[in-house]
Amino acid sequence: MNLIRKFDFNEWSPKIDSVTSQQAIAALEDGFVICLPHLPFVLGEDEKRFLSERWSDHKSKNISLRPQGGLKGAFGSADELKALRAMIQRYSDQATQLVSTLFPDYVPNLVKANTSLRPFEVEGRVSSYRKDDKRLHTDAFPSNPTQGTRLLRVFNNVNPNGRPRVWRVGEPFDAMVKKYLPQAKNMFPGQASLMHKLGITKRKRTPYDQLMLQLHDLVKADMDYQRNAPQQSVNFMPGTTWIVYSDQVLHAAMSGQYMMEQTFHLPPEALYRPETSPIKVLEAIKGIALGLVD
Ligand code: SIN
Ligand code: FE
Repeated sequence: MNLIRKFDFNEWSPKIDSVTSQQAIAALEDGFVICLPHLPFVLGEDEKRFLSERWSDHKSKNISLRPQGGLKGAFGSADELKALRAMIQRYSDQATQLVSTLFPDYVPNLVKANTSLRPFEVEGRVSSYRKDDKRLHTDAFPSNPTQGTRLLRVFNNVNPNGRPRVWRVGEPFDAMVKKYLPQAKNMFPGQASLMHKLGITKRKRTPYDQLMLQLHDLVKADMDYQRNAPQQSVNFMPGTTWIVYSDQVLHAAMSGQYMMEQTFHLPPEALYRPETSPIKVLEAIKGIALGLVD
């Protein structure tokens, strides 16, 4: 099964007929990766210097532009940072145009989150298995519960040396869930409130978040699954944009350097087909509500 769906759009606000529009919507919400090999993020001559590790503060993995405007993880003079911010902002604007054009019904509920430039080589990076994004996973973050909100991401490979960003993409979400759900542990009574009170989580962890974290960790810990589960390797060449629900699609980044990324948040109810959302899939399997309690 091929979980990559290619479209030949070459503009950030493409003209799109209704058949293609339906195909793109179905692909995204059914957990495919939308791959646009002919949609580069074009850098100005003066911006090419930003494809270097030297603009990192070397404390953060990414250089991030917050939706409120703050630039994080960057190092440089005021003028340099102004130009760097403008480049990242332009990516944010173009990614927003793209998502708004392809998924117009999302627009009233689409919330822009961070935009990032990822300047470091992926290959060879060492980290604990939980933080190792070279292992297949669906995104879930211990301190940042989504409470069911979708994580929609728009990536672009801006590598100037012809090098691909190499990903692995795994099996459909529900197939993975069926394998690991029986092993997933619940929170202890009062845990969600306590963690929120202590500032360990930014908001309350719901039963949904707990399950998603457990699935994230169980999948990453299982080397047999990592090697032998159904999967495909994908080379995203420079000039390629790809769109993915990273809370739904099993993915791993194997190698590559220099990528742009825009995250959006979207409530599950705002989807064309809300029932495809991880929270709805998990609720259907468990037969109980997994949202915020008390
Ligand atoms: C990830 O989202 O797990 C990593 C994506 C990437 O850096 O290519
Ligand atoms: Fe990820």
